[in-house]
Amino acid sequence: MPVNKTVFITGAAAGIGRATALTFARDGYTVGGYDIDEVGLKTLAGDIEAVGGRPITGHLDVTDPDEMAQRIGEFTKAAGDRLDVMINNAGILRTGRFEDIDISAQLNVIDINTKGVVNGLHAAFPYLRATPNSVVVNLASASAIYGQAELATYSATKFFVRGITEALDIEWNRYGIRVISIWPLYVKTAMTEHIKTGTTEALGIKLTAQDVADAIVAAVEPSWLQRRTHQVHFPVGTQTKASVVLSRFLPVGLQRLLNKRLAGL
Ligand SMILES: NC(=O)c1ccc[n+]([C@@H]2O[C@H](COP(=O)([O-])OP(=O)(O)OC[C@H]3O[C@@H](n4cnc5c(N)ncnc54)[C@H](O)[C@@H]3O)[C@@H](O)[C@H]2O)c1
Repeated sequence: MPVNKTVFITGAAAGIGRATALTFARDGYTVGGYDIDEVGLKTLAGDIEAVGGRPITGHLDVTDPDEMAQRIGEFTKAAGDRLDVMINNAGILRTGRFEDIDISAQLNVIDINTKGVVNGLHAAFPYLRATPNSVVVNLASASAIYGQAELATYSATKFFVRGITEALDIEWNRYGIRVISIWPLYVKTAMTEHIKTGTTEALGIKLTAQDVADAIVAAVEPSWLQRRTHQVHFPVGTQTKASVVLSRFLPVGLQRLLNKRLAGL
């Protein structure tokens, strides 16, 4: 009997998480979609059924380690005792001048975007270890290339995601677990709907949630070259790919100047 692969996605009710859930469902995966937005999850479950999938959904606040462990345990049990792909996607963004964003909002960004990822990694580990060729996908961002003005704390959280991805990819190699991160620039989702920064003005918001979902699915099943070179970070879109190349070759002083100019500062 063919084995149904499984994917657990945080922040799955909307945006990139939702598009990713539907894309994996179309590919025959058993999809676990978790979020604090239970209304969004109801429509997601209907949409997964509509593409012939079997949805498993539930409430999850990624900042709560106990709830994370509970939901991952329930999901893997219901999905045949395997966890092929864990996607730490839930995240929030606050933009503006650092001093104008109140401290509780800043700390909330850190809690969800960093502690949420640690909670997901920690709770998923035993199930990933027990599943051959499992993969963790962490949502980083192009803002993990150089610190971004007007989204300073958000950008710093994505450097955290970059760092923990690199470290665990090395650490968990011994268990056969790949740990990778996805780096989109601005994507048209609710997250970017009402924001206006120097860089959104200069670079535009060009990517769709489906572009990122397709990049995630492709990164989970990498090409021969990506596997051979052990690619850990996956930039999405031409602008991010160009920025990654520039960051390798441009002296740091010029990178600062470029980022300053793009931010209009
Ligand atoms: N949109 C972009 O421009 C962009 C660019 C690069 C990276 N990303 C990253 O991609 C990921 C998804 O972003 P998106 O654009 O789809 O955002 P979105 O706002 O469209 O969706 C985020 C989802 O996360 C959920 N969520 C928020 N707090 C949560 C919590 N505490 N626990 C569980 N779920 C929670 C929301 O309810 C929502 O359904 C984030 O990590 C984001 O940082 C987004």
